[in-house]
Amino acid sequence: MGIAWNADRMSTGFKLVDDQHQELIRRFNEFHDAMAHGKGQATAIRLLGFLAEYTETHFKCEEECMTQHRCPAAISNLSAHNGLRREIAAVKGHITEGKLSLADLVKVEQMLGNWIQTHICTIDVKLRECVGDRSHS
Ligand SMILES: [Fe+2]
Repeated sequence: MGIAWNADRMSTGFKLVDDQHQELIRRFNEFHDAMAHGKGQATAIRLLGFLAEYTETHFKCEEECMTQHRCPAAISNLSAHNGLRREIAAVKGHITEGKLSLADLVKVEQMLGNWIQTHICTIDVKLRECVGDRSHS
């Protein structure tokens, strides 16, 4: 089963950040479906292209947002982001070398599913406590 956006559990209170998280969930679900249909390989290459950009643009946006609002989760957020940046870069490296394996695909699926369910729902949502509900701003 894919992951459904759940504002109560996932909203950070910042529309831009939430929109980006929803896009990540959409991409994850697309990949999850492809994996279930044995088409993970082709989708993974597209997904990793997206993730390489996402881990720069979205992560920077969210990191700046946390710093700006003096969010207590800013440091743990940054270190988690750097961890995912490294993991994504490693899998991208396998693609470049023509060595993308089924183990890589399974790892990416688990890693992203886990990221959405734990990182977004526990660390990113700390932003909400810093500024109250700004989901409409
Ligand atoms: Fe984050």
